[in-house]
Amino acid sequence: MKHLLSASDLSRDDAVLVLDTAKQLAAATAQGVGKLPPLRGRTVVNLFYEDSTRTRISFEAAAKRLSADVINFSAKGSSVSKGESLKDTALTLEAMGADAVVIRHPSSGAPHRLATAGWISGGVVNAGDGTHEHPTQALLDAYTLRAHLRNGEGDLQGAKVAIVGDVLHSRVARSNAQLLQTLGASVRLVAPPTLMPFGVDTWGCEVSYDLDDSLNDVDAVMMLRVQRERMNAAYFPTAHEYSSRYGLNATRMNKMPSHAIVMHPGPMNRGMEISADVADSSRSVIVEQVANGVSVRMAVLYLILGGTEMS
Ligand code: NCD
Repeated sequence: MKHLLSASDLSRDDAVLVLDTAKQLAAATAQGVGKLPPLRGRTVVNLFYEDSTRTRISFEAAAKRLSADVINFSAKGSSVSKGESLKDTALTLEAMGADAVVIRHPSSGAPHRLATAGWISGGVVNAGDGTHEHPTQALLDAYTLRAHLRNGEGDLQGAKVAIVGDVLHSRVARSNAQLLQTLGASVRLVAPPTLMPFGVDTWGCEVSYDLDDSLNDVDAVMMLRVQRERMNAAYFPTAHEYSSRYGLNATRMNKMPSHAIVMHPGPMNRGMEISADVADSSRSVIVEQVANGVSVRMAVLYLILGGTEMS
């Protein structure tokens, strides 16, 4: 694996390899031996052109736990605010010897451009590009689902996952719809008609506009944030109306089978797409998703940088 740009880069076996590697790395980390050595002497650059809390910190923690040197670059406060292009930034990183670049960018396709334009020689990991893709989020979600539904083994054959909310603007939904199906799960997308993407019929998923009808047969419900910053029009009448039809509250959660889990990639709009009691309930695995994100990103960096010794 040279780059990770899209969930569609991964075959079933590639995805299972990432999940198994993440599991091993999580176990090694849990033994409390401190940092693991495989990426000693390698440099990972976090290139963030868009705000992020979890993903940026998670990639930083992942690289450091594998003993890589980490350079954090955020567009605010850099020469990007003076108009420097992605190309010139990339050439600077190359000159500094970046072995891998983790990029988040508001433009869909920016990581692909970085990987293919020949500006840098290292690996590129997409940490979220516009409304396009967020493959490491899908991998950490798959890891979390596998831990709960399949005892942390194999793939997700036969699992049923509902992805609910602002599918239109969600790179998390796009990457998950692909990866979960690659792993054998079936996916139901639930959204108001205005927030369902054009061409969704090509995604291979079931489509529903009714949340109440979509809960009684699922193994997991993945709630999506309503992405107001990407909305240039009115997609629904009021926040109250949205949450009364598409928000996950305790009454709706009780319609789910008793084993089914509640997920959210964060950041949450509590009271909008998810009520506070559901977010904090024992069926919510939202904090676990964050922890698993570090293990999965360790695995991705390890596999891309071809780390050798494991102990
Ligand atoms: C998501 C993102 O940035 O795409 N968050 C994340 O990475 N944890 C989802 C979102 O912003 O709603």
